[in-house]
Amino acid sequence: MRGVRGAARSVAARRVRVDLGDRSYPIEIGVGTLDAVGPAVAAATGARKAILISVPPVARRYAARVERSLRDAGIRSKRLLVPDGERTKNLGQVARLYDACLAAGADRSSVVVALGGGVVGDLAGFVAATLLRGIPVVQVPTSLLAMVDSSVGGKTGVNVARGKNLVGAFHQPSLVWIDGETLDTLPTRQLAAGLAEVIKHAAIRDERLFRRLERDLDRLLALEPRVCVPILQRNCAIKAAVVSEDEREAGPRMLLNFGHTLGHAAEALKKFRGILHGEGVAMGMSFAAERSEELGLAPAGTANRLRALLVRAGLPTDLPDFPRSAYLRALAVDKKKRDDRLHFVVLRAIGRAETRPLKLAEIWPPRRKLLRRGTGG
Ligand SMILES: NC(=O)c1ccc[n+]([C@@H]2O[C@H](COP(=O)([O-])OP(=O)(O)OC[C@H]3O[C@@H](n4cnc5c(N)ncnc54)[C@H](O)[C@@H]3O)[C@@H](O)[C@H]2O)c1
Ligand SMILES: [Zn+2]
Repeated sequence: MRGVRGAARSVAARRVRVDLGDRSYPIEIGVGTLDAVGPAVAAATGARKAILISVPPVARRYAARVERSLRDAGIRSKRLLVPDGERTKNLGQVARLYDACLAAGADRSSVVVALGGGVVGDLAGFVAATLLRGIPVVQVPTSLLAMVDSSVGGKTGVNVARGKNLVGAFHQPSLVWIDGETLDTLPTRQLAAGLAEVIKHAAIRDERLFRRLERDLDRLLALEPRVCVPILQRNCAIKAAVVSEDEREAGPRMLLNFGHTLGHAAEALKKFRGILHGEGVAMGMSFAAERSEELGLAPAGTANRLRALLVRAGLPTDLPDFPRSAYLRALAVDKKKRDDRLHFVVLRAIGRAETRPLKLAEIWPPRRKLLRRGTGG
């Protein structure tokens, strides 16, 4: 059984600060802290009105607690639900939400509270970024991916017919409020997908975290608060540090794309069906680590060590079985492409990554097999 609910709530809450000058904000990480979000929203924004945006599976479980806490802090709230799933991240929903926000009396003293996974965070964040030329947003992420990745950094946006996340805005939240207890109800496969980004952070930036994951993964999967909270904190700190160094994604932030080049290609080839983003990232990291070794950039054994942790986390490591030519076509449309080369993130070791401008044929040489180990698929 997973351990967060009812378990040691005494685990001390932790804070990470995202340093961005006058747009700096705290990430508060705790267990069982949903009931205390109201005063923090009031302190961070001074708002008297809140628009709570969520999806049914999350709202059903958690919205009432958030609303009660907001009310107790003197903030009136209006709940707006959108359908669950990636497809809800579209401009039609944005227009619907603008209307509903304004009908509910939203003004510049209002705050948007995004309660849910990355879909809710991106959509609600974009609405907040653009409604009345921008009102504050508080992120209350409830999926692991949203906690360690999408809620931190200020990227918001929606999908359009031509592709994912092509319309959006940078809009930093005023506060990120993480209650690790909400992970208790997150489907196991979604938890694993979030772990792919956790493992990514360790692989590109923090060998110590990687060792901690190797040691404590089972306790993390069981959601033991004593293990979860510090790992969440460390992950938010890594994402926050990268974002602070490089808010608009010119340099260091690109390292966060580790595993994403081939991961995106795999997702696209599968037409985003039957594959979660984190699963694509796990496959892409596995591939990139192998290539790093083959190019003589990382010591032998690096890829095996990474793959072993991914497998333990319940993640796939073998790319879906499409021909090399199909992958190359998918890579060629990647928006990070610059003059024939892709900025490909390689590992120099576990805990250390860098970007290399590589030609497609260097990323995936002509005779290289899809699977070096010849198993799985
Ligand atoms: N803005 C960024 O920097 C950034 C970074 C990475 C990903 N993203 C975006 O994030 C999205 C993916 O986020 P995601 O993986 O959280 O997907 P998601 O928001 O669809 O959540 C996954 C599923 O888990 C459910 N869920 C979430 N929390 C739950 C809980 N506590 N209990 C029960 N069910 C719960 C959701 O309802 C959904 O069905 C994508 O749209 C991606 O583009 C954004
Ligand atoms: Zn990702």
